[in-house]
Amino acid sequence: MNTLKKLSVLGLFVVGLSACGTDPKSAAGFTLPEGDVKRGKAAYVEYGCNACHQHSDVPQLESALAAELSVPLGGETARVRTYGELVTSVINPSHRIAKRRSIEVADETGNSKMVTFNDVMTVTQLIDMVAFLQESYELSPHHNTVYPVYWHPEAQDK
Ligand code: HEC
Repeated sequence: MNTLKKLSVLGLFVVGLSACGTDPKSAAGFTLPEGDVKRGKAAYVEYGCNACHQHSDVPQLESALAAELSVPLGGETARVRTYGELVTSVINPSHRIAKRRSIEVADETGNSKMVTFNDVMTVTQLIDMVAFLQESYELSPHHNTVYPVYWHPEAQDK
């Protein structure tokens, strides 16, 4: 290997390392607990997500709104490719919109037309809903973070 090649390999290694650990805002280690798909589907209907979305399992509600706004969820999309992006699109819909500024899905200020449920939805409902939606998306493999056990209640008795 010549010096130039060696240097570029080292460079890639350093870039890789910094991507993993040093960014304090890194999403590394972010994992929601396992959700319940059935309860997730119920919450999806309860919050009226189907007012604006079509889903293979839950058809969109018929309304005047549906005629002008219909965003399909699931499959293989360019917008939601990872678990992180799926969670983000539910709790921070304008995150991606800000970059896209698409006319049909965003308002004049560039914010998503998707309403926010962050003040009403429980964390458990979010977890369940992500589990429900995750089944219909073709996401890149996501490996849940494995945390070491620092304290175990049973270990105390031994
Ligand atoms: C008032 C209409 C509206 C409602 C209600 C709504 N959404 Fe959305 N949603 C949108 C629009 C518009 C987009 C596309 C633009 C964007 O990414 O914000 C979107 C995008 C999404 C995406 C990303 C889609 C993709 O594949 O890129 C997900 C996931 C999603 N919504 C989930 C939900 C869930 C879960 C609920 C119910 C808790 C919900 N939405 C309720 C309008 C809505």
